[in-house]
Amino acid sequence: MYIKKIKLKNFRNYDNLEIELDKNFNIIYGNNAQGKTNIIESVYVSAIGRSFRTKRDNELIKLNSENASIEVDYKKEDREGSIKTEINDKKMFFINGIKQKKISDIIGNIKIVLFNPDDINIIKSSPSLRRKFLDIMISQLKPNYLHILNTYLRALEQRNFYLKQIKFENKPINMLDIWDEKLSELNYEIFKYREKYLNIIRRKNKRYPQKYNKLWIK
Ligand SMILES: Nc1ncnc2c1ncn2[C@@H]1O[C@H](COP(=O)(O)OP(=O)(O)O)[C@@H](O)[C@H]1O
Ligand SMILES: [Mg+2]
Repeated sequence: MYIKKIKLKNFRNYDNLEIELDKNFNIIYGNNAQGKTNIIESVYVSAIGRSFRTKRDNELIKLNSENASIEVDYKKEDREGSIKTEINDKKMFFINGIKQKKISDIIGNIKIVLFNPDDINIIKSSPSLRRKFLDIMISQLKPNYLHILNTYLRALEQRNFYLKQIKFENKPINMLDIWDEKLSELNYEIFKYREKYLNIIRRKNKRYPQKYNKLWIK
C-alpha cells in the first residue's frame, strides 16, 4: 500500500495543506521548524491514533484554532481508502467517512514504521520502551493482540482498585486471586505474541552480523 494524499487543516503550523505523494519514495526537505516532522506526525496519528511526540492532543491543533483535521488517502492492492481524524476536545476517526467507535478500530489500516533519531532510546532506555515498540508493531499486524493488551490494562486497573478496597473497605483479600489469575492468563497470551515477533526480528537480525568480525566482550 502507499499514501496518495495528505490533507491537513489547522494541524500544528498548517492552516491548509494538501500534498500528493509518490508511490515509491518521497523526500520532504526544508529549513528547520518549517513543519517537516509535523507532516510525518500527521501520518502517524492516522495510523496509530496518537502522536509519537506528545500525549496532549490539543498541542496538535494550530495555536488559536478550535479544531484540527487530518485526512490521509491511501491505495492498497485492490482498493482505495481514507482515514480522517478530527481533533478538538476529543479525537474522532472516520474510515471512508464512517465514524469509528474506538482508536483500536483504525490501527492496522495504514501500516507504518517510524524511524527517527529518538529511536536510539529503544536500545538505550528502559525495557518499557522496548515493550512499547513491540506493542505498536504487533498491534498493527494482529488486532487481537491490541484487544488482549487493552483487556490486560483494564484488568490491572481493576486489580489496583480492588487493592484499595481491601485496604479501605475491608474487602476479603482472597478475592484478589481472581484478578491475579486473570492477569497471569492475559500476561501469558501477551508474552507468547511478543516472543513470536521477537523471534522473527531475531531471525532477520542473524543475517547481518555474519558479514562482520565479531568481538564478543564478556
Ligand atoms: N500547535 C501548533 N500551532 C502552531 N504552530 C505549531 C504548533 N505546533 C508546532 N508548531 C510549529 O511547527 C514548527 C515545527 O515543526 P516541525 O515539523 O517540528 O519542524 P521541522 O521542519 O524542523 O521538522 C515550529 O515552527 C512550531 O512553532
Ligand atoms: Mg523535524
